Amino acid sequence: MRFSLNIDHIAVLRNARAETQPDPVTAALLAEQSGIDGIVVHLREDRRHINERDVRLLRELLTTKLDLEMAATDEIIKIACDIVPELATIVPEKRQELTTEGGISVIDNIIRLKSAIKDLHNADVEVSLFIEPDIDQIDAAAEINSDYIEIHTGVFANAISEEEQFDELEKIRLAAKHAKKLGLGVNAGHGLNYQNIKIFKELTDIDEVSIGQAVIARAVFVGLNEAIKEMINLIR
Ligand code: PXP
Repeated sequence: MRFSLNIDHIAVLRNARAETQPDPVTAALLAEQSGIDGIVVHLREDRRHINERDVRLLRELLTTKLDLEMAATDEIIKIACDIVPELATIVPEKRQELTTEGGISVIDNIIRLKSAIKDLHNADVEVSLFIEPDIDQIDAAAEINSDYIEIHTGVFANAISEEEQFDELEKIRLAAKHAKKLGLGVNAGHGLNYQNIKIFKELTDIDEVSIGQAVIARAVFVGLNEAIKEMINLIR
């Protein structure tokens, strides 16, 4: 299982005082030295954390890979086609939310997503759709030629009983297996942390996890290198 680090929170800290530090681009380069497999950033419509300067520099400097999380809006699709990240992960985006709250409904947005995927493919950008572990959504993602799905793990992460957590894990396991059968790459993320990753990593059909909050929060106390190494040791 590969591990990509989401560095949006480093940019949140920088932007809190309209400063230049901590620089998310520096963090990304340090994270690469610590052994992560890729960097994830969410270029939001309101630019509340990562901005275009960050994304353009990351594109130039990263030696692993860049996963650009984004809404399927004309403005951001145009930027993605220009920057050409290794992967564009399409998420639903609401201006008021604190973070992405769940997967996008491929079925309800099929025309818009099909057109977004076509535009991104024409620019040589592979696409992932952030969705719930739902077989119908996965079928729809495959139908419109998505290359990957990213399974939303928030319900698993927020489960309040072991039984609920196990049920959700099973749902994710079956969803990942189904997606693999259809030839899709399978990523997963949201709310994964140093505790729940221990059972999550048993899911052999997940290619990659995308983790932000838990690792950046730990990095505040032990440093980025140590926080990343601890997570890598749990995952591999
Ligand atoms: N995957 C997606 C699509 C996300 O929106 C986020 C949050 O930015 C993550 C993964 C990482 O979630 P967390 O910060 O809870 O680890």
